[in-house]
Amino acid sequence: MDMVPDHELRRLEAVAGAKGWSVDDLVARRLDGEPLQYIEGSAQFGPIELEVDERVLIPRPETETLFEIASRMVRLPEVVVDLCTGSGALALALKKQFPAASVFATDISSDAIQVAKANMARLGEQVFLAEGNLFDPLPRSIKGEVDLVVANPPYVAEAEFASLPDDVKREPRVALVAGRSGLEVIERIGASVRDWLRPGGVVVCEIGERQGVAAASSFPGIPVVVRQDLTGRDRFVIGVKP
Ligand SMILES: C[S@@+](CC[C@H](N)C(=O)[O-])C[C@H]1O[C@@H](n2cnc3c(N)ncnc32)[C@H](O)[C@@H]1O
Repeated sequence: MDMVPDHELRRLEAVAGAKGWSVDDLVARRLDGEPLQYIEGSAQFGPIELEVDERVLIPRPETETLFEIASRMVRLPEVVVDLCTGSGALALALKKQFPAASVFATDISSDAIQVAKANMARLGEQVFLAEGNLFDPLPRSIKGEVDLVVANPPYVAEAEFASLPDDVKREPRVALVAGRSGLEVIERIGASVRDWLRPGGVVVCEIGERQGVAAASSFPGIPVVVRQDLTGRDRFVIGVKP
């Protein structure tokens, strides 16, 4: 970036004013490729505001669409699971939307779990947050009982990482890169999710725009559809366990 656009400059001026920092320093950080939300220290996600820093992915508008789709597909869920929770975005927004639900969220990154716990405390919500691989840290007692599984997993292929924009590359690599094909984490979710859902339970998983066909065949035993984001790109796999 050669110049900070006006709308970003106004936001940097607001941060500088609120924190007593120098605007020039913040502009220099932005020009150096630091994402705006890391400089601000926060990001809006649906009905909640989250604290974010370099330990977590900055929640994206596509994932807000996932939140809206998932919220419309279930009525008063009792058990909700958010895999790959990062800052806690989906788990905490769903807890706000469905206060009576028990919400469980996992992430393989201890840094992310720390950020999610801080966000949970600040928002005054109660969500089960555990570090570990996908379903592994979940209590066995909810196996086969889950009404809704949501996930925004990493889905970038190793070879694609270098071509990402500079500010995206400042986000944690573990949040972006899944493995050689990019489909590895989606496939692991698809292989296990049927065991965790109750009959009639719903899974909504975010995918990369070129992964629709492959991702749709990664959920054995669950009829799925691929839905597009607001820009018309394949972005979500949605399934209902028979
Ligand atoms: C794309 S980010 C999504 C974060 C958050 N859900 C959001 O939408 O803003 C993916 C997250 O998955 C986590 N992750 C990567 N591999 C994982 C795995 N095998 N099990 C659990 N979490 C994983 C990363 O640490 C990262 O926080």
